[in-house]
Amino acid sequence: MSAVSVAMSQNLVDVGATDDVPQRGARCVKKGDLTIAIFRTQDDQFFALEDKCPHKHGPLSQGIVHDGCVTCPLHNWVISLSSGQAQGADEGETRTFTVEVRDGRLLLDLEELR
Ligand code: FES
Repeated sequence: MSAVSVAMSQNLVDVGATDDVPQRGARCVKKGDLTIAIFRTQDDQFFALEDKCPHKHGPLSQGIVHDGCVTCPLHNWVISLSSGQAQGADEGETRTFTVEVRDGRLLLDLEELR
């Protein structure tokens, strides 16, 4: 886990290299009390969600990434990486953030991290 530190133009902050995030895995960045998990799918799409399951706050970053979703490691709820919504019969939502990829770097919008 690393801290958000390097300010870029506008409101974007550089939170690391795409290569730092394993395929079908996640890497966390912290901003104050907020922990954001950046996920990478098998086909190299990136998504940023708060690292907190809507069920009982399990660490989604330690879950299994599959089919555009992550399965929470605690009780197996399936959360959409794009919407943050729990899938199937489960109800709840995890906060999502915009993540941009530019020149192999991951950028988050600082305004969204408040
Ligand atoms: S905390 Fe994630 S499924 Fe229960």
